Amino acid sequence: MLDGNKVLFSGMQATGNLTLGNYLGALKNWVTLCDEYQCFYSVVDLHSITVRQDPAELRKRARNLLTLYIAAGIDPEKNCLYYQSHVPGHAELAWILNCFTYMGELNRMTQFKDKAAKHADNINAGLFTYPVLMAADILLYQADVVPVGKDQLQHLEITRDIAQRFNAIYGDVFTVPEPYIGKAGAKIMSLQNPEKKMSKSDENPNGSIYLMDDPDTIIRKFKRAVTDSEAAVRYREEQPGIRNLIDIYCACTGKTPEETEREFDGRGYGDFKMAVGESVVAVLKPLQERYEALGKNKDYIDKVIKENGEKAAYFANKTLRKVQKKVGFPERVR
Ligand code: TYM
Repeated sequence: MLDGNKVLFSGMQATGNLTLGNYLGALKNWVTLCDEYQCFYSVVDLHSITVRQDPAELRKRARNLLTLYIAAGIDPEKNCLYYQSHVPGHAELAWILNCFTYMGELNRMTQFKDKAAKHADNINAGLFTYPVLMAADILLYQADVVPVGKDQLQHLEITRDIAQRFNAIYGDVFTVPEPYIGKAGAKIMSLQNPEKKMSKSDENPNGSIYLMDDPDTIIRKFKRAVTDSEAAVRYREEQPGIRNLIDIYCACTGKTPEETEREFDGRGYGDFKMAVGESVVAVLKPLQERYEALGKNKDYIDKVIKENGEKAAYFANKTLRKVQKKVGFPERVR
């Protein structure tokens, strides 16, 4: 690991099929930041059980997600890729931070309101205190930076508030983290409803590109993407469907919206949608191939899980012990 460098933490849930939004908004940036930071990337399975999961399915998806992190280009020798549930410090610190977080703050979280509406039959306490566990994830590693999509910014804000509150009482215990939002792709919208974010849990599969979609499916979904009647490839608020497609195209090709407008000046939506689809296939196909190959290497993945889990626990314990001492828990007898 790049010891001595600034620290980065981020995580992803292994629930549902990962979408292009997860990749462009998060995973892609994780890879580019690896050389600069000491990175911790977690499969956040504790967060996943805030909604009901099939146990066997969750276990399988968690492993697949960890494999995908590696397939995306994150080297597990230089970075720490691990399961949140393998490091007990996350839950322990979350408990302590719960006692420094106000109900009123949690009540304002828009993701809680959305999820509570969606899972009205199971509004459990974990769903409510979800952002506190997220704060624990980040603060446990003293992260300086947290790369996320825009939908997680409110959770980053509460993390900063909790850290500052704790520090004001006990001294400089936690690093106060900054969010990192990528230049392109920070909020990818549904292809069927550009007012709604592209989401793993969307009931309409045509609204999302899943990371394991084959090329034909990807092209077909882009051909069907909702646009407008302006018939011009322009990056404007009034054209949310086209704007979203431009965002996707830019995130996949590295071009700017202005360059894209010039490239498709005078050309129809058909051409543009095809080009966006092809740019996505060009990004996802190599990822899928590496993922398939890695999945077959069971021993290697097992080794990563074991070694990286231990590495994460080592760093986590350093912060946890310090926090336990600060709040007044008795020292361990050795
Ligand atoms: P999750 O699993 O919902 O999403 C993982 C990452 O993908 C980003 N993302 C998107 N970005 C752009 N456009 C979209 N349509 C889109 N959909 C998702 C998310 O912003 C996120 O970065 N609570 C978190 C996981 C988490 C975490 C953490 C993240 C737990 N602890 C600590 C950072 C730090 C979540 O459910 O992400």
